[in-house]
Amino acid sequence: MAQTVKAHDLNFELFINEQTIQKTVADIGEKITQDYQNKKPLLLGILNGSFVFAADLMRTLEIDAEIEFVKLTSYEGLNSSGILREMIGLEESKIENRHLIIIEDIIDTGNTLARFLPELEKMNPASIALATFLLKPEALQHPLKISYLGIKIPNKFVIGYGLDYNGLGRGLRGIYQII
Ligand code: IMP
Ligand code: MG
Repeated sequence: MAQTVKAHDLNFELFINEQTIQKTVADIGEKITQDYQNKKPLLLGILNGSFVFAADLMRTLEIDAEIEFVKLTSYEGLNSSGILREMIGLEESKIENRHLIIIEDIIDTGNTLARFLPELEKMNPASIALATFLLKPEALQHPLKISYLGIKIPNKFVIGYGLDYNGLGRGLRGIYQII
């Protein structure tokens, strides 16, 4: 696995390797398996970044589960604009009475979820839990209850494992931090 990578004009160094990632995902999957016996949860992946984590996580579950994705757009370049512009792919009929597990690649400021969760609640799910692979505690600006957390990281920009810098880096198997 490459120790450093370049995306556009920026350089990044390996920060979390593939083995650590897979172990972390398996641990989260085990907890969800225990917590959702006979509940058939609906995983709700937030596009685009969560597609890799969602696919890996779903394949660790040992219970029936379904998956949907929603596209929320609020982020450009290196800074969160915090404005929820669109919610694509979400219908009340899919959400109503379901046990939802929201799947995020990373929670940074928390702006995206702070705006999205009230909209979801209006659709009357049976329950909502949050699962995020990464969290930047220093950046968080909203009190979010995170039920399933992978790894806490410092407030530095990262790419890989679904995360991008202006479109690049999503396919990297490790997580790389800006140098
Ligand atoms: P938040 O609304 O500030 O919590 O940010 C949510 C979204 O911003 C995440 O789902 C990511 O798509 C994106 N994001 C936040 N931090 C990073 C990062 O370090 N690298 C890549 N994308 C990020
Ligand atoms: Mg995202």
